[in-house]
Amino acid sequence: MKKIIKNGCIVTATDTYNADIAMENGVITQIAENIIDLQAEIIDAKGMYVFPGGIDPHTHLDMPFGGTMTKDDFETGTMAAAFGGTTSIIDFCLTTKGKSLKSAIETWHAKAKDKAVIDYGFHLQIVEVTDLVLEELQEMITEEGITSLKVFMAYKNQFQADDETLFKTLIAAKELGALVMVHAENGDVIDYLVKKALEEGNTDPIYHALTRPPEAEGEATGRAATLTQLANSQLYVVHVSCAEAVKQLEEARKKGVDIWGETCPQYLVLDQSYLEKPNFEGAKYVWSPPLREAWNQDVLWNALKTGQLQTLGSDQCSFDFKGQKDLGRGDFSKIPNGGPIIEDRMSILFSEGVKKGRITLNQFVEITSTRAAKLFGLYPKKGTIAIGADADIVLFDPETERIISAETHHMAVDYNPFEGMEIIGEPVTVFSRGEYVIKNKVFVGTAGKGQYLKRAKYGEALSAKSKSLTMK
Ligand code: URP
Ligand code: ZN
Ligand code: ZN
Ligand code: ZN
Repeated sequence: MKKIIKNGCIVTATDTYNADIAMENGVITQIAENIIDLQAEIIDAKGMYVFPGGIDPHTHLDMPFGGTMTKDDFETGTMAAAFGGTTSIIDFCLTTKGKSLKSAIETWHAKAKDKAVIDYGFHLQIVEVTDLVLEELQEMITEEGITSLKVFMAYKNQFQADDETLFKTLIAAKELGALVMVHAENGDVIDYLVKKALEEGNTDPIYHALTRPPEAEGEATGRAATLTQLANSQLYVVHVSCAEAVKQLEEARKKGVDIWGETCPQYLVLDQSYLEKPNFEGAKYVWSPPLREAWNQDVLWNALKTGQLQTLGSDQCSFDFKGQKDLGRGDFSKIPNGGPIIEDRMSILFSEGVKKGRITLNQFVEITSTRAAKLFGLYPKKGTIAIGADADIVLFDPETERIISAETHHMAVDYNPFEGMEIIGEPVTVFSRGEYVIKNKVFVGTAGKGQYLKRAKYGEALSAKSKSLTMK
């Protein structure tokens, strides 16, 4: 049925204006001052912002890691995402040396297919670059629409790839039209520091941060940038946490390197001291890169404001405190790395960013949705409010106040790292392709309704129903 959103204030990455939106058959069909259609369902958005649905470009759902499985799967994870205003996610598909890429993708399709409540795509992890991988890559990019490749420079003896693999991936990506993503930390140095700390009897959660210094992130970021320049390729650095890494991005960009940076809410509002909480509670804040000294937060906010960082991922990778984070009692290196962030990603950026005057309303949309859509081949089908685009829309109340808590969140985990934080602004109603997923703060979506997103090549626009929209 046709729906009309009336009286709202539409916000895109470039414009803020009052207009009505009509949507039908999953797409936006009309945007005009006063749309009248007696057959349509009318939704009153008075006093609300009308945002394009958020795109979370960095999630790990139903993923084996650190000797256990992430607690949130594609059902609970995407439901929580929707509550937070996110209508598309891109999840990381893990691969195994010696095994086909295709089988890895099939595994990830099976995880998501009957569970996702919003649309989803996959990034593909690269652990080796063999002739077979190169052959398969072509197919993955053109047939599966997987146009982003992830290389880990850390997690030695687990995910870590060497520089040769990264360099070959960069070359292949340039040729095939994909964006390379890196987890930039020097895994070899970290491995040495971790072993040394444990030998010296330093086993508490805080040593997770102390053995992964910001220099290890800065060094890897700079190295990846240099290899990207040498390969004349393109790079997206995930979860940038510190000043050292921001500096490397800035310098590379000055040299003309095609490089992009993502940060995450946790680095914007939490700091290293959280890892020192007593009774092993510091383990709740163990992820990589680690939380940094608080002064880095200003650097990250400033980088978002000035465009040195362009996107916000959640890096959702959730584990229960009891029974999962517990695995690292007596040895911080065994604490599963990651946190539950998917639900509060957008609200935190709105409350701490827009409300506190650190970024503009339009920047909020750019950072939470539009830029990710453009970088990951979803624009203009996703990432904006325009005729012909998917009707992925968030009605957002900018004045409502709430307190983040595990008691009220919708993720499957037993704690929330932002527990007690006061937030202003909250999604009230969320549409995915014109259908309600959240209606007046109540979940009304359906598992399995989320569609798989085949994405366009890097730098190319995904065909939407309107021809007038192009990449910018
Ligand atoms: O600690 C983290 N970030 N866990 C998820 C995996 C990764 O490195 O992104
Ligand atoms: Zn990572
Ligand atoms: Zn991650
Ligand atoms: Zn609820």
